Amino acid sequence: MKKITIDTIRSLKGANSAFATLTAYDFTSAKLVDQAGIPLILVGDSAAMVVYGYDTTIPVSMDEMIFLVGSVTRGAETALVVADMPFMSYQVSVENAIFNAGRFVKEANAQAVKLEGGVNSADRITGIVNAGIPVMAHIGLTPQSFHQMSGYKVQGKTKSTAEQLIEDAVAVEAAGAFSVVLEGIPSELAKIVTETVSIPTVGIGAGPYCDGQIQVFHDILGLFGTFVPKHTKQYSKLGENIVDTISQYRADVETGKFPEAKHSAHLKEEIINAIRSGS
Ligand code: KIV
Repeated sequence: MKKITIDTIRSLKGANSAFATLTAYDFTSAKLVDQAGIPLILVGDSAAMVVYGYDTTIPVSMDEMIFLVGSVTRGAETALVVADMPFMSYQVSVENAIFNAGRFVKEANAQAVKLEGGVNSADRITGIVNAGIPVMAHIGLTPQSFHQMSGYKVQGKTKSTAEQLIEDAVAVEAAGAFSVVLEGIPSELAKIVTETVSIPTVGIGAGPYCDGQIQVFHDILGLFGTFVPKHTKQYSKLGENIVDTISQYRADVETGKFPEAKHSAHLKEEIINAIRSGS
């Protein structure tokens, strides 16, 4: 299959059926997501929590993200790979934003980057796009603003905040974003935004009216047991399967059922005899 580009993603705007996208954080999971026909893989800064074990997305660094993005781009043969710009990698200045977006492309082979913010991030988006790097925007519930939002709260519930969100969507499109993530907003507002902008909207906790959906790999597979977000459907309980499988392995080792003869190489009888007799 040919590598997917931002033009392919753009062409999915307003299609008859929605498209599904997913996060991935390493070579093996990227290969699996790719095999399932997912057109866009986001190496999300949710890695902060599901890979590195931090409480929020705030602490993860550029270097920690670069390693993950590199392994995903080596695994994804077809899907477009988008690298999520971590907190403070683009907020300080346009120059800094371009520099860090460039690192993802040069050092980790990403095809695009994602960053949070609407009107307030528009100059960053334009700067990065003008440097030749496609940008996916992310508005609504923006987890890097955890403290500013006083926690993870649905956004755009009042007339004025809903209008602000529409302005944000229009601003990121005008700034050059090729698509926009809508996170944690009422589904009716997501519908209005999807009808307003001409770039694909990709929802998470934003209802069924977006052009596409995005979910976190660990959430839909049931790998992250501590907490199941409201916006997630668990399609599997892989975490439980993994614990069962590892427990079987452990029991087999403890009871001598593993390894069996077929699991290792063997010496010829005459060599064993020669070693034992010292000849
Ligand atoms: O970090 C992430 O995984 C994300 C998506 C869920 C949109 O930003």
